[in-house]
Amino acid sequence: MSDRTNALRIEERADGVAVVWMDVPGDSVNTLKEDFADEFAEAFSHLERTDTVKAVVFASAKNDSFIAGANIDMLDSVQRAEDAVALSRAGQAANDRIASFPKPIVAAIHGACLGGGLEVALACHGRVASSHRKTKLGLPECQLGLLPGAGGTQRLPRLIGVQAALDLLLTGKQVDARKAQKLGLVDEVVAPAIVVDVAIEHAKKRIGRAADAAPKLLDRLADTEALAELALTKNPLGRKVLFDQARKKLHEKTRGNYPAQERILDVVKVGLEDGMEAGLDAEAEAFGALVMSPESRALRSIFFATQELKKDSGVDDPEVQPKDVRHVGILGAGLMGAGIAYVTTTRAKTPVRLKDRDADGVLAGLRYVRDIHDGRVRRRRLTPMEADRLMMMTLGTRDYSGFHRCELVVEAVFEDLDLKQRMVRDVEAVGPQDVIFASNTSSLPITEIARASAHPETVIGMHYFSPVHKMPLLEVVVTDQTADWVTATCVALGKRQGKTVIVVKDGPGFYTTRILAPMMNEAAHILAEGVPVEAIDEAMLDFGFPIGPLKLTDEVGIDVGAKVGEVLREAFGERLSPPAGMERLIASGRKGRKNGRGFYRYDGKDRGVDETVYADLGIEPHQTLPAEEIAWRCTLQMVNEAALCFGEGILRSARDGDIGAIFGLGFPPFRGGPFRFVDSVGARTIVRRLRGYEARFGPRFRPAPVLVAMAESERTFHGAAPIAPGSLRTGSG
Ligand SMILES: NC(=O)c1ccc[n+]([C@@H]2O[C@H](COP(=O)([O-])OP(=O)(O)OC[C@H]3O[C@@H](n4cnc5c(N)ncnc54)[C@H](O)[C@@H]3O)[C@@H](O)[C@H]2O)c1
Repeated sequence: MSDRTNALRIEERADGVAVVWMDVPGDSVNTLKEDFADEFAEAFSHLERTDTVKAVVFASAKNDSFIAGANIDMLDSVQRAEDAVALSRAGQAANDRIASFPKPIVAAIHGACLGGGLEVALACHGRVASSHRKTKLGLPECQLGLLPGAGGTQRLPRLIGVQAALDLLLTGKQVDARKAQKLGLVDEVVAPAIVVDVAIEHAKKRIGRAADAAPKLLDRLADTEALAELALTKNPLGRKVLFDQARKKLHEKTRGNYPAQERILDVVKVGLEDGMEAGLDAEAEAFGALVMSPESRALRSIFFATQELKKDSGVDDPEVQPKDVRHVGILGAGLMGAGIAYVTTTRAKTPVRLKDRDADGVLAGLRYVRDIHDGRVRRRRLTPMEADRLMMMTLGTRDYSGFHRCELVVEAVFEDLDLKQRMVRDVEAVGPQDVIFASNTSSLPITEIARASAHPETVIGMHYFSPVHKMPLLEVVVTDQTADWVTATCVALGKRQGKTVIVVKDGPGFYTTRILAPMMNEAAHILAEGVPVEAIDEAMLDFGFPIGPLKLTDEVGIDVGAKVGEVLREAFGERLSPPAGMERLIASGRKGRKNGRGFYRYDGKDRGVDETVYADLGIEPHQTLPAEEIAWRCTLQMVNEAALCFGEGILRSARDGDIGAIFGLGFPPFRGGPFRFVDSVGARTIVRRLRGYEARFGPRFRPAPVLVAMAESERTFHGAAPIAPGSLRTGSG
């Protein structure tokens, strides 16, 4: 065997089956790297030559992971599309070697079998998977703006049919073993302990049979779905209908912002119409183009940033250790408190005391948690027994019993400074001596809340997003007094709760709320100019936001938005002033979706714009503005505010600012976040645009000093000589 990379070990058994164990040295999971090619080739030559080997099983020696994918680090060094095409060609060749191997090869899949890993498994002649929860199969490449470049776009449709394949390819979703079996992706699902043994049996049964990694659709002819699939894919008209519909559905979702998905459709279609070889050519070409695309670069940068954040303790001093948190107290069992209880028990596996002021409040919180579990039980993600066990980890209470044990208390009561300060005093009276008090306030300064504390170094913000069990971000907010060990402890807990965590400095609106407010405010200004509601929201959807700013205002609550806006205006002055007429909207009793009266209608099925909103605002929707102009104005408000935060040192890095905006506010991921957006457009262009708007609309568009400095010096936020956070303070406001 080759000793070049030592990723493969061959066990030649007496029964004629050789098990190829993959075990990449030094890593906890297997990922495919470019330099394995020689070792793979050598291994398969050896297996082909060795007469005593009659069949092969491909398995992983790692715990709970088959092959987690190809290593994407190598893509960043790719300078030209041709080099990426060559990478794809090499992957295709390696998998072709497996697919056309003269002896049967069966994959024994236990754990993550994703991306390049699934492409290897698809090239094998059979697949057996373990029923373990960690066994997941999928082709997530599109989430990085890429497509599977080692034959996956061709083998998957041939194995499971075009419709099912497109569903996996275009979403990047992962399926468990049972679902994979239903799709025809794996042949059998067995207990983890016997997955290799059963794969060996499958391999033996195939000895002497022609190698076939070919479609199984004809075997499933009794299946009506398979028949429909044949009707759709085997005649040109059916195919046209299928691809036209898929393209239309895709466009509704992506609005043309995600080229990878478009290319996947093209490439699958080529393979279906012109054969495997043409399909593989198209796949390699498209892979090359996508690797070089700005969308993929941005999406890959987000992936790397989240990987980095997983290793970041949240403080600069590497000596600081987080404290063990074994019991968490939560104050307020409302929407947020209950959501935080859910992620603490279910993901962080830490018991919770959930306190509200009365029994109804406690019960409502517990019901909220129970409902999430029940949903998962229905979807078979959880057994009823596991749900019961998790429920037992949340103890509801109306008093502070049990709080003497809680090393950390998250406060999620009403947004009221006096109340929150009272909570600080209560918790310090009953809790352990150095209990951490973490407030989930969305707008009150943590420094103010900490004034009530005898130990302000233990007071911090843990700003979660709603709904807590779905939103990926946690913004940890530190004051000048917060101790590093407190920050590190909250960051560690947040990660255990499954969150991507950024640490920001205390200040009005922290980071996320602060950069969202001017964007929402700009939307209100554009509305006040007479541009219709739907034109504004549609423009932002086209730009890549998941929800338009006015629809979002309805969701957050028009009253809540106005209140936060007021707090920020007090802090930052006129640049956050709402347009005239907004106060009439509030006075008219419109609060958004929660009271069924907002910019949109919430009665019956029609969820269109509520046309009566214009009269309340005292405007006529008469104005048309190009969608691009709307998107630029709103986005630049957010980007400029993010740059101000950067200059003031609110952020620890541009990376955190990008992640916060994408994961907390839905900034278009394919644009990489506000800071990558500036880098890709160029600070000079951004400043020129801001100055143009400043001349027309006034000082709310005054460019942040850091942007001006960057435009003059041609520096970037990311890149080779990045500008440092906190280096330029605001001059605006
Ligand atoms: N809803 C959001 O989207 C969101 C997002 C981030 C942060 N926040 C912040 O989270 C906090 C809670 O928001 P929410 O949406 O969950 O509100 P909510 O009204 O749903 O819940 C607040 C809960 O606090 C309880 N409560 C009030 N006084 C109490 C006391 N003295 N002791 C114990 N419980 C008490 C109430 O009974 C209620 O159940 C607020 O500070 C809010 O600004 C909300």
